[in-house]
Amino acid sequence: MLKGKTAVITGASRGIGKAIALNMAENGANIAIVYLGSDTAAYEVCAQASGFGVMAKVYQCNVANWSESKNTCEKIITDFGSVDILVNNAGIIRDNLLLRTSEEDFDAVVDISLKGSFNFIRHLARSIMKSSAGRIINISSVSGIMGNPGQSNYSAAKAGMIGLTKTIAKEFAVKNVTCNAIAPGFIETDMTASLPQSTKERIDMIVPLKRIGHVNEVAKVVVFLASDASSYITGEVIKVDGGLCM
Ligand code: NAI
Repeated sequence: MLKGKTAVITGASRGIGKAIALNMAENGANIAIVYLGSDTAAYEVCAQASGFGVMAKVYQCNVANWSESKNTCEKIITDFGSVDILVNNAGIIRDNLLLRTSEEDFDAVVDISLKGSFNFIRHLARSIMKSSAGRIINISSVSGIMGNPGQSNYSAAKAGMIGLTKTIAKEFAVKNVTCNAIAPGFIETDMTASLPQSTKERIDMIVPLKRIGHVNEVAKVVVFLASDASSYITGEVIKVDGGLCM
C-alpha cells in the first residue's frame, strides 16, 4: 500500500507513534523515527520496522526546537533522498485547571504539539511537495474539538493543529499534497496510564463503544490517510474515539 514511500513520524518511540511507524513499515514504507527520550525504545522500534524489509532510521530531536527540527529534517532528506509522508504525532500532557496552569506548562504543551507540527511541516514541505502524492497527517485530539476541563493548554494546542491542518490543506492542494488530522479519544498508552483512576472508571460510561481504544485503531486510519485510498480527502478531521465526541 505504501511501497517505496518514505514516512517521517514524530514521537515514534512508543504509544500511538510506535504503532503508526510499525503499521506503515508493514505496508512497505521506509520509516524515519523521530523521538525524544529513550534511545533503547527508539532502536527497538527501528529493529522491528526493519524486520518488514524497509529502510528505518532513528533521529533524536526535540520537535519544539526550530533549529534542531531543521537539522533533523535536512538529515532525513539526505539519508532517504526524499520524504512523501509526515505524521506529526509527538505530544505531551501537563493537565491542570486553568487557575493552576503555569506559563511553563502552557508553553511546553503548545510548543511540542502545535509549534512542533509547524516546524516539521515547514522544514519538510519542499521535499513533500516534490512527491507525486504527498501526505501530512496531524494527530490532534477530541479535546481540541470539544474542550476538556483541566486541559486548557492541550485543547488549545490540539485545536490549533486543526486550524493548521485546514490551512495547509488549502495552501498545498495545488501540489497534490493532502493534509488531514486525526482526533483520537481515549487510547491505551503511557499517556492515558497517567490519568486519574476516577477518569479511567468513567470511560465505560462516556464512550458509546464502552472501552478504551487500541493504538492500532489509530494507526490503521493513519495508513489509510497516507495511502492512495484517501486521494480525494483533504482538510478533514477524523475522530477515532469510539463515539465519545458526536
Ligand atoms: P506517549 O506519551 O505514549 O508518546 C509520546 C511520544 O512523543 C513519545 O515517543 C515521546 O518521546 C514523544 N515526544 C514527546 N515530546 C517530544 C518532543 N519534544 N520532541 C519529540 N518527541 C517528543 O503518547 P501517546 O498516547 O502515544 O500520544 C501520541 C499522540 O496522540 C500525542 O500527540 C497525543 O496528544 C495524541 N493523543 C493521544 C491520546 C491518548 O488517549 N493516548 C488521545 C488523543 C490524542
